[in-house]
Amino acid sequence: MAQQEDVFKKIISHCKEYGFVFPSSDIYDGLGAVYDYGQNGVELKNNIKQYWWQSMVLLHENIVGIDSAIFMHPTIWKASGHVDAFNDPLIDNKDSKKRYRADVLIEDQIAKYEDKIAKEVAKAAKRFGESFDEAQFRATNARVLEIQAKCDALHERFAKALNDGNLDEVKQIIVDEEIVCPISGTRNWTDVRQFNLMFKTEMGSTADGASTIYLRPETAQGIFVNYLNVQKTGRMKLPFGIAQIGKAFRNEIVARQFIFRMREFEQMEMQFFVQPGTELEWFASWKEQRLKWHKALGMGDENYRFHDHEKLAHYANAASDIEFRMPFGFKEVEGIHSRTDFDLSQHEKYSGKNIKYFDPERNENYVPYVIETSIGVDRMFLSVMCHSYEEEKLENGETRAVLKLPAALAPTKLAVLPLVRKDGLPEKAREIMDNLKFHFNCKYEEKDSIGKRYRRQDALGTPFCITVDHETLTDNCVTLRDRDTMEQTRVSIDALRGLIEDKVSITSLLKKLV
Ligand code: GAP
Repeated sequence: MAQQEDVFKKIISHCKEYGFVFPSSDIYDGLGAVYDYGQNGVELKNNIKQYWWQSMVLLHENIVGIDSAIFMHPTIWKASGHVDAFNDPLIDNKDSKKRYRADVLIEDQIAKYEDKIAKEVAKAAKRFGESFDEAQFRATNARVLEIQAKCDALHERFAKALNDGNLDEVKQIIVDEEIVCPISGTRNWTDVRQFNLMFKTEMGSTADGASTIYLRPETAQGIFVNYLNVQKTGRMKLPFGIAQIGKAFRNEIVARQFIFRMREFEQMEMQFFVQPGTELEWFASWKEQRLKWHKALGMGDENYRFHDHEKLAHYANAASDIEFRMPFGFKEVEGIHSRTDFDLSQHEKYSGKNIKYFDPERNENYVPYVIETSIGVDRMFLSVMCHSYEEEKLENGETRAVLKLPAALAPTKLAVLPLVRKDGLPEKAREIMDNLKFHFNCKYEEKDSIGKRYRRQDALGTPFCITVDHETLTDNCVTLRDRDTMEQTRVSIDALRGLIEDKVSITSLLKKLV
């Protein structure tokens, strides 16, 4: 565990050192849980967004995009339930004065039980070798069964307490499980209280009678309130979807783990409007489609899992998360929710407007049901970074830090490096770059030895480098170096585009989805 924490710390400092992510307001010592993306971070982030946008809008004839405003009429948040129910249960430790989300403390406790079982299984697997039957061991080993029973009981009690909104019971679970504060090590807890996560601000001057408005805590509501505008102007027929990428804001109680939980973040959300009664089929279909999107990046199928929700949000009748294995455990990256007709019906009620869909085939009006896919850009960014960062021991005893980013997401696809800064090599390198820069992101670099430049490009995640040497001037060939294998091959300049473009394009990923 400590080793994983070290790796995570290294990833955070790598992000800063190589221009991916900086703390916001850095020269003022930062601002809690707010971050800026640097020159390389913004490219990686844009590539993630492009991959998502194109997979939604280009690959589905019945999905279109919008870009709605962050500020919205305040009644929207009353209608959506966020004013009354968008709360987290918080608890303070009286000794350390640290504040925690009570539900997260209990989830961590469940994860501890699961870890214990995993350790028992690993020990037994080692002991029995090839003949080990994991399923049988889990079903019969007394120690595993005992831990599993405790874990299941806790799960059940916790789910019930959350569903009932019973905060006293949530506190009692923390007491009964003897959960201690990681800082003070004590069990001196306050009661559990609810805390609303929306940021408020004022619109208009006070003299005019300013009104309180909210910074949106999700982009989804901008889609709901526009669904009929889009349906009518786009002549959309059910089922159809609306996609949006944009900022969201939450006054998170416990901001931790770098860009995993931020107060200002970005979401990529798609609301898919369907006939009532078909929503659970579509829910299953979108779960599958979204997992495929993640797996197409090649970051290891074993690093993903679904987590079906115990406690359903106030708007959902089914919900599941796609979790990715981060250095601090499996964590939610995306949520897929069956939101019923809750939001649209609420907006009908609060706005007093008829926003029913007219179904020409059934010749009737009704409120559609909605399946939502909602993924955080920043969390996706973090999962890509965590998976890609490696410290590799080389044959010569040196260590190289390399970002093995999926090539299509890498900020720079090709570094163009003249071997020396003279003899016409820089001019030749520029000429190559001027041809290729229209097709993918290229960077020219002539400072430092070639070995140092390779290392720097490895650390930036650049999948390919080419070196322009003296022979290039006569044979029109360059050395092409692969980031992951470090293999070098001599290739003709004319062949470069063909060799690289397909491997680094978003299209190459999209083709895996159809
Ligand atoms: N519209 C539904 C919705 O907002 P959510 O599960 O609260 O659902 C969806 O959020 C996704 O947004 C999460 O899976 C996560 O990737 C991202 N997200 C949520 N809160 C976040 C935060 N504080 N910082 C970074 N990403 C966040």
